[in-house]
Amino acid sequence: MIGSLAWVTTAAARGTDEDEPLALAGTGVRVEVVDWDDPDVRWESFDRVVLRSTWDYPQRLDEFLGWLDRVEAVTEVRNPAAVVRWNLDKHYLAELADAGVPVIPTTFVEPGGPVALAADDVVVKPAVGAGSRDVGAYRAVEHDLALDHVERLRARGGSVLVQPKVASVEAEGEWGLLFFGGRFSHAANKRITLAPAGEVGDLYVAEELFAHEADAAQVAAARAAVDVVAARFGTPAYARVDLVRDDDGRHRVLELELVEPSLFLPQADAGAAARLAAALVS
Ligand SMILES: Nc1ncnc2c1ncn2[C@@H]1O[C@H](COP(=O)(O)OP(=O)(O)O)[C@@H](O)[C@H]1O
Ligand SMILES: [Mg+2]
Repeated sequence: MIGSLAWVTTAAARGTDEDEPLALAGTGVRVEVVDWDDPDVRWESFDRVVLRSTWDYPQRLDEFLGWLDRVEAVTEVRNPAAVVRWNLDKHYLAELADAGVPVIPTTFVEPGGPVALAADDVVVKPAVGAGSRDVGAYRAVEHDLALDHVERLRARGGSVLVQPKVASVEAEGEWGLLFFGGRFSHAANKRITLAPAGEVGDLYVAEELFAHEADAAQVAAARAAVDVVAARFGTPAYARVDLVRDDDGRHRVLELELVEPSLFLPQADAGAAARLAAALVS
């Protein structure tokens, strides 16, 4: 058990994290909400540093990773920097696929490499990104626009992911399954309306969330992804696995969130915050 915890946010996200009040109510330790880029914070004065609403990190990645390493040199970070680095780049989907986890088929377009649009309806997204920023969906007649999007993202120097657009997402959305301390906690159904690519100016795209009781197939698919992380890095304090249903009705991993996932506590049962707290302070 620890004595103090830093709950890390960023100035622009203050007051917008709906998990925060629920999560902080029950930790049982001294908690301070701090901005990751605040130069006055003495990180070594906390027993644990928990990455939460650090939602501007994709735009300030080098700065953020440098900060993370400095903090980890003086105290314990959840999730650890090695996990964060691995999870920042959606190339981890290839590793999950290699380990037998059902993931959305993904083509990685590397800087300088060839581009293939492997389906009529495609989604283009940056390998390093979050909050649906720079994610675009295109129909077959819009492939020229999809290729423009790929080149725009590549011009920034990063890799790009191209996936078949999963048809069910528009009607059903996706399901986020939360694991605290490696144990399944709860799930929520998430609906997102993607803006035309490049038009997202905010920190994140608005999401609609609904409580959801995960079924055994969903938990199994999500757990497979968490197990890969646990085998490689040790059990993550928190993990969210986002699933979608493919055309065959099978649940596949769209994304694995180990950095600063929304935890869907407002949609969860009353015990979820306590399960989170236990995982964070143990
Ligand atoms: N292959 C896909 N098929 C259908 N919708 C997708 C696909 N990939 C992404 N999306 C939509 O775009 C959103 C953001 O993509 P995601 O992979 O979750 O990246 P981010 O890290 O930005 O959250 C998803 O929540 C989903 O609504
Ligand atoms: Mg997502």
